[in-house]
Amino acid sequence: MQETRLNTRSQQAIALEDKYGAHNYHPLPVVLDRGKGVFVWDVDGKRYYDFLSAYSAVNQGHCHPRLVKAMQEQAAEITLTSRAFYNSKLGSYAEYVCKTFGYEKMLPMNTGAEAVETALKLARRWGYEKKGIAKDQARIIVCEGNFHGRTITIISASTDPDSNTRFGPYTPGFVVIPYNDIPALEKALEDPNVCAFLVEPIQGEAGVFVPADDFIAKAIRACKAKNVLFMADEVQTGIARTGRMLCSEHSGERPDVVILGKAVSGGMYPVSLVLADDAVMEVFTPGSHGSTFGGNPMAARIAMEALDIVKEEKLAENAERLGQLFRSEMQKLVDEFSYVKLVRGKGLLNALIIEPRKTADGSPRTAWELCLLLRDNGLLAKPTHGDIIRFAPPLVITEEQLMECCRIIALSVRQFA
Ligand SMILES: Cc1ncc(COP(=O)(O)O)c(C=O)c1O
Repeated sequence: MQETRLNTRSQQAIALEDKYGAHNYHPLPVVLDRGKGVFVWDVDGKRYYDFLSAYSAVNQGHCHPRLVKAMQEQAAEITLTSRAFYNSKLGSYAEYVCKTFGYEKMLPMNTGAEAVETALKLARRWGYEKKGIAKDQARIIVCEGNFHGRTITIISASTDPDSNTRFGPYTPGFVVIPYNDIPALEKALEDPNVCAFLVEPIQGEAGVFVPADDFIAKAIRACKAKNVLFMADEVQTGIARTGRMLCSEHSGERPDVVILGKAVSGGMYPVSLVLADDAVMEVFTPGSHGSTFGGNPMAARIAMEALDIVKEEKLAENAERLGQLFRSEMQKLVDEFSYVKLVRGKGLLNALIIEPRKTADGSPRTAWELCLLLRDNGLLAKPTHGDIIRFAPPLVITEEQLMECCRIIALSVRQFA
């Protein structure tokens, strides 16, 4: 299916990546060259709706003019100072994010995985210094099906064999419970050596698993009752993706620690951070954590602009409203086609579950083939875990564009029969 469509330029680009790049991804065969708003173009100039948004990093849309300007201006001033010195942007950025999200302190990093690592270190040290856990006994609760990144420590907490097979020895100190299971959490919290519960408010990579409406609120309260930090990994769900600035806001309760990445920069630059109050964050002392690039002036400038855009363009409200419309349109496909099993999600983080089949001549019909059809029809999405297709367009999408995308998805689902 893929080879027949690809022209020489695309094939050459793919061949180069295949030959010289490690095979740690399995990309959809399309070679992107340009992006603007909700659209991306391939090397032949064919236009697609981007329904992945770089795994929810490009919430503000590709190459937002304000972000391009901020980046160009800052690039001409100063980009990197290291934290050996103060820089003129980090203080304002720290104040901006603390006030935006309602926390007393922030710690800047670059990638999502680094911010998760930061939170894990924060939790352990807090456990020893504030909770009085005995040396090296701290434990952190995580959930089955979690995705928090790819470092050795993070995959030590993973239950996904694709992530963690043959990477041992693993970092100890994790307790795994089922997702969306308050009794299991309460039982795990009985252990006095537990310092934190690390959880995604919606499991994105696992296939957009939305927990019960009251799961996060109950989990936060259960952690509080046991003097355990509730740490929300909002790297994918944060920054308006689910219809609120933070997905955990839907719960009405406040996490002790929030981890953010991806759309903090609108996809212009790797920017991540951890938020917590003084009583938690003060356990970090000079030398105990850091990063050459974390908090650099370029990142700080871009992130402030990117978050301004989210607020001023009311992207959370757009995600909430268009998310409902999207799910109701997808529900029509679930009702009509037996192989479209389910639509689920929140805001503009949604997934369609596809039943894998074979046609009469034995050709496979899985989520991957449906994504190839979507591509041919001008929309890019990617299967996650076999039969699940995640749909996460940039949040700047309009109602008219969204409806056109629903028509493309309906057409592709029909052709998939
Ligand atoms: C919930 C969550 N946490 C952490 C990460 C890791 O982020 P990064 O790929 O920037 O390291 C991801 C990436 O998809 C994620 O979805």
